[in-house]
Amino acid sequence: MSGRPILSLHEDIALRWADGGLDDALLAARLAEEAFEPEYREAWTAGQIAGLLGSGESWLDIGYRAEEPVVFALCRKAVDEVELLLCATSPRWRRRGLGNELIARVAAQSRNRGAGRLFLEVRASNAEALGLYRKAGFCENGRRPGYYRTVSGDSIDAITLALAL
Ligand SMILES: CC(C)(COP(=O)(O)OP(=O)(O)OC[C@H]1O[C@@H](n2cnc3c(N)ncnc32)[C@H](O)[C@@H]1OP(=O)(O)O)[C@@H](O)C(=O)NCCC(=O)NCCS
Repeated sequence: MSGRPILSLHEDIALRWADGGLDDALLAARLAEEAFEPEYREAWTAGQIAGLLGSGESWLDIGYRAEEPVVFALCRKAVDEVELLLCATSPRWRRRGLGNELIARVAAQSRNRGAGRLFLEVRASNAEALGLYRKAGFCENGRRPGYYRTVSGDSIDAITLALAL
Protein backbone atom coordinates (compact mmCIF):
# COMPACT_ATOMS: atom_id res chain seq x y z
CA MET A 1 0.00 0.00 0.00
CA SER A 2 1.36 3.42 -0.89
CA GLY A 3 0.30 7.06 -0.73
CA ARG A 4 -0.69 9.35 2.07
CA PRO A 5 -3.82 8.29 3.98
CA ILE A 6 -6.58 10.89 4.18
CA LEU A 7 -8.97 10.88 7.10
CA SER A 8 -12.61 11.72 6.71
CA LEU A 9 -15.50 11.47 9.14
CA HIS A 10 -18.93 10.25 8.14
CA GLU A 11 -21.50 9.99 10.90
CA ASP A 12 -20.16 7.24 13.19
CA ILE A 13 -17.69 5.96 10.61
CA ALA A 14 -14.11 7.19 10.53
CA LEU A 15 -12.95 6.36 7.03
CA ARG A 16 -9.28 6.35 6.09
CA TRP A 17 -8.48 6.51 2.38
CA ALA A 18 -5.31 5.05 0.91
CA ASP A 19 -3.92 4.46 -2.56
CA GLY A 20 -3.83 0.76 -3.29
CA GLY A 21 -0.73 -0.72 -4.87
CA LEU A 22 -0.15 -4.02 -6.66
CA ASP A 23 0.06 -5.69 -3.24
CA ASP A 24 -3.56 -4.72 -2.59
CA ALA A 25 -4.99 -6.47 -5.67
CA LEU A 26 -5.92 -9.55 -3.63
CA LEU A 27 -7.56 -7.45 -0.93
CA ALA A 28 -9.66 -5.59 -3.54
CA ALA A 29 -10.58 -8.87 -5.25
CA ARG A 30 -11.79 -10.31 -1.94
CA LEU A 31 -13.89 -7.23 -1.29
CA ALA A 32 -15.32 -7.48 -4.82
CA GLU A 33 -16.12 -11.17 -4.38
CA GLU A 34 -18.00 -10.37 -1.19
CA ALA A 35 -19.79 -7.35 -2.69
CA PHE A 36 -20.93 -8.57 -6.12
CA GLU A 37 -23.61 -11.18 -6.68
CA PRO A 38 -21.97 -14.17 -8.43
CA GLU A 39 -24.96 -14.43 -10.80
CA TYR A 40 -23.73 -11.40 -12.74
CA ARG A 41 -20.04 -12.33 -12.98
CA GLU A 42 -18.97 -8.73 -12.36
CA ALA A 43 -16.25 -9.21 -9.73
CA TRP A 44 -12.70 -9.05 -11.02
CA THR A 45 -10.01 -11.48 -9.91
CA ALA A 46 -6.80 -10.39 -8.19
CA GLY A 47 -4.93 -11.19 -11.42
CA GLN A 48 -7.21 -8.95 -13.47
CA ILE A 49 -6.87 -6.10 -10.96
CA ALA A 50 -3.09 -6.46 -10.77
CA GLY A 51 -2.91 -6.62 -14.58
CA LEU A 52 -4.75 -3.32 -14.86
CA LEU A 53 -2.66 -1.65 -12.15
CA GLY A 54 0.49 -2.72 -13.96
CA SER A 55 -0.54 -1.07 -17.22
CA GLY A 56 -1.21 2.52 -18.26
CA GLU A 57 -2.46 5.21 -15.90
CA SER A 58 -4.68 3.35 -13.49
CA TRP A 59 -5.23 3.41 -9.77
CA LEU A 60 -6.97 1.71 -6.88
CA ASP A 61 -8.55 3.64 -4.01
CA ILE A 62 -9.38 1.82 -0.80
CA GLY A 63 -11.37 3.15 2.14
CA TYR A 64 -10.69 1.56 5.54
CA ARG A 65 -12.76 1.66 8.66
CA ALA A 66 -10.33 0.90 11.47
CA GLU A 67 -8.22 -1.78 9.76
CA GLU A 68 -11.07 -3.21 7.70
CA PRO A 69 -11.21 -2.43 3.96
CA VAL A 70 -14.85 -1.45 3.37
CA VAL A 71 -15.02 0.34 0.02
CA PHE A 72 -12.86 0.54 -3.11
CA ALA A 73 -12.69 1.89 -6.66
CA LEU A 74 -10.56 0.84 -9.61
CA CYS A 75 -10.01 3.52 -12.28
CA ARG A 76 -8.17 3.99 -15.55
CA LYS A 77 -7.32 7.26 -17.29
CA ALA A 78 -7.15 7.43 -21.08
CA VAL A 79 -6.29 10.79 -22.65
CA ASP A 80 -8.63 13.24 -20.88
CA GLU A 81 -11.19 10.77 -19.54
CA VAL A 82 -11.30 8.45 -16.56
CA GLU A 83 -13.23 5.19 -16.58
CA LEU A 84 -14.49 3.91 -13.24
CA LEU A 85 -14.09 0.20 -13.96
CA LEU A 86 -15.12 -1.36 -10.67
CA CYS A 87 -16.30 -0.15 -7.28
CA ALA A 88 -18.08 -1.61 -4.30
CA THR A 89 -18.97 -1.15 -0.65
CA SER A 90 -18.79 -4.11 1.71
CA PRO A 91 -22.34 -5.48 2.24
CA ARG A 92 -21.97 -4.78 6.00
CA TRP A 93 -21.39 -1.07 5.39
CA ARG A 94 -23.99 -0.16 2.78
CA ARG A 95 -26.37 2.82 2.90
CA ARG A 96 -24.06 4.85 5.13
CA GLY A 97 -22.80 7.26 2.50
CA LEU A 98 -19.55 5.41 1.69
CA GLY A 99 -20.51 5.07 -1.97
CA ASN A 100 -21.18 8.81 -2.18
CA GLU A 101 -17.84 9.53 -0.56
CA LEU A 102 -16.11 7.15 -2.96
CA ILE A 103 -17.56 8.86 -6.04
CA ALA A 104 -16.59 12.29 -4.69
CA ARG A 105 -13.03 11.04 -4.14
CA VAL A 106 -12.77 9.44 -7.59
CA ALA A 107 -14.11 12.64 -9.21
CA ALA A 108 -11.61 14.80 -7.30
CA GLN A 109 -8.70 12.51 -8.16
CA SER A 110 -9.75 12.40 -11.82
CA ARG A 111 -9.86 16.22 -11.91
CA ASN A 112 -6.42 16.37 -10.29
CA ARG A 113 -5.10 14.09 -13.02
CA GLY A 114 -6.43 16.46 -15.68
CA ALA A 115 -9.53 14.51 -16.75
CA GLY A 116 -12.62 16.38 -17.95
CA ARG A 117 -15.02 13.44 -17.83
CA LEU A 118 -15.67 10.42 -15.68
CA PHE A 119 -17.56 7.55 -17.28
CA LEU A 120 -18.62 4.01 -16.46
CA GLU A 121 -20.79 1.14 -17.54
CA VAL A 122 -23.40 -0.41 -15.27
CA ARG A 123 -25.80 -3.33 -15.51
CA ALA A 124 -29.30 -1.98 -16.24
CA SER A 125 -30.79 -4.04 -13.38
CA ASN A 126 -28.33 -2.70 -10.77
CA ALA A 127 -30.72 -0.30 -8.98
CA GLU A 128 -28.28 0.43 -6.12
CA ALA A 129 -25.47 1.49 -8.41
CA LEU A 130 -27.77 3.45 -10.75
CA GLY A 131 -29.16 5.28 -7.70
CA LEU A 132 -25.65 6.08 -6.51
CA TYR A 133 -24.44 7.38 -9.89
CA ARG A 134 -27.56 9.41 -10.63
CA LYS A 135 -27.40 11.00 -7.21
CA ALA A 136 -23.80 11.98 -7.97
CA GLY A 137 -24.93 13.70 -11.19
CA PHE A 138 -24.04 11.10 -13.83
CA CYS A 139 -26.16 11.20 -17.01
CA GLU A 140 -26.99 8.27 -19.26
CA ASN A 141 -25.32 8.52 -22.66
CA GLY A 142 -25.56 5.04 -24.15
CA ARG A 143 -26.88 1.52 -23.86
CA ARG A 144 -25.45 -1.82 -25.01
CA PRO A 145 -28.27 -4.31 -25.44
CA GLY A 146 -27.63 -7.72 -23.86
CA TYR A 147 -24.06 -6.82 -22.87
CA TYR A 148 -24.11 -8.79 -19.60
CA ARG A 149 -24.68 -12.55 -19.63
CA THR A 150 -25.69 -14.02 -16.29
CA VAL A 151 -24.71 -17.44 -14.93
CA SER A 152 -28.31 -18.55 -15.63
CA GLY A 153 -27.92 -17.46 -19.26
CA ASP A 154 -30.01 -14.27 -19.21
CA SER A 155 -28.89 -11.17 -21.11
CA ILE A 156 -29.01 -7.76 -19.47
CA ASP A 157 -28.30 -4.38 -21.04
CA ALA A 158 -25.35 -2.23 -20.01
CA ILE A 159 -25.95 1.48 -19.48
CA THR A 160 -23.14 3.97 -20.04
CA LEU A 161 -23.12 6.95 -17.70
CA ALA A 162 -20.92 10.03 -17.73
CA LEU A 163 -20.16 12.89 -15.37
CA ALA A 164 -18.59 16.14 -16.57
CA LEU A 165 -15.83 17.10 -14.12
C1 LIG B 1 -23.67 0.53 -5.39
C2 LIG B 1 -22.96 0.56 -4.04
C3 LIG B 1 -21.46 0.80 -4.29
C4 LIG B 1 -23.52 1.71 -3.19
O1 LIG B 1 -22.71 1.80 -2.03
P1 LIG B 1 -23.24 2.44 -0.66
O2 LIG B 1 -22.03 2.67 0.19
O3 LIG B 1 -24.33 1.61 -0.09
O4 LIG B 1 -23.84 3.84 -1.18
P2 LIG B 1 -24.33 5.07 -0.31
O5 LIG B 1 -24.74 4.67 1.06
O6 LIG B 1 -23.32 6.16 -0.42
O7 LIG B 1 -25.66 5.49 -1.10
C5 LIG B 1 -25.60 6.54 -2.05
C6 LIG B 1 -26.85 6.52 -2.89
O8 LIG B 1 -26.89 5.35 -3.72
C7 LIG B 1 -28.25 4.95 -3.90
N1 LIG B 1 -28.45 3.62 -3.31
C8 LIG B 1 -27.60 2.93 -2.53
N2 LIG B 1 -28.13 1.73 -2.20
C9 LIG B 1 -29.34 1.68 -2.78
C10 LIG B 1 -30.38 0.71 -2.81
N3 LIG B 1 -30.25 -0.47 -2.16
N4 LIG B 1 -31.50 0.99 -3.52
C11 LIG B 1 -31.62 2.16 -4.19
N5 LIG B 1 -30.69 3.15 -4.19
C12 LIG B 1 -29.56 2.90 -3.49
C13 LIG B 1 -29.10 5.99 -3.18
O9 LIG B 1 -29.37 7.05 -4.09
C14 LIG B 1 -28.14 6.47 -2.10
O10 LIG B 1 -28.45 7.71 -1.58
P3 LIG B 1 -29.43 7.80 -0.28
O11 LIG B 1 -28.87 6.85 0.75
O12 LIG B 1 -29.33 9.24 0.12
O13 LIG B 1 -30.78 7.38 -0.77
C15 LIG B 1 -23.18 -0.76 -3.25
O14 LIG B 1 -24.56 -1.05 -3.22
C16 LIG B 1 -22.43 -1.95 -3.81
O15 LIG B 1 -21.26 -2.17 -3.49
N6 LIG B 1 -23.10 -2.78 -4.67
C17 LIG B 1 -22.49 -4.02 -5.22
C18 LIG B 1 -21.35 -3.71 -6.16
C19 LIG B 1 -21.81 -2.81 -7.30
O16 LIG B 1 -22.89 -2.97 -7.85
N7 LIG B 1 -20.92 -1.84 -7.68
C20 LIG B 1 -21.23 -0.87 -8.71
C21 LIG B 1 -21.07 -1.42 -10.07
S1 LIG B 1 -19.37 -1.45 -10.59
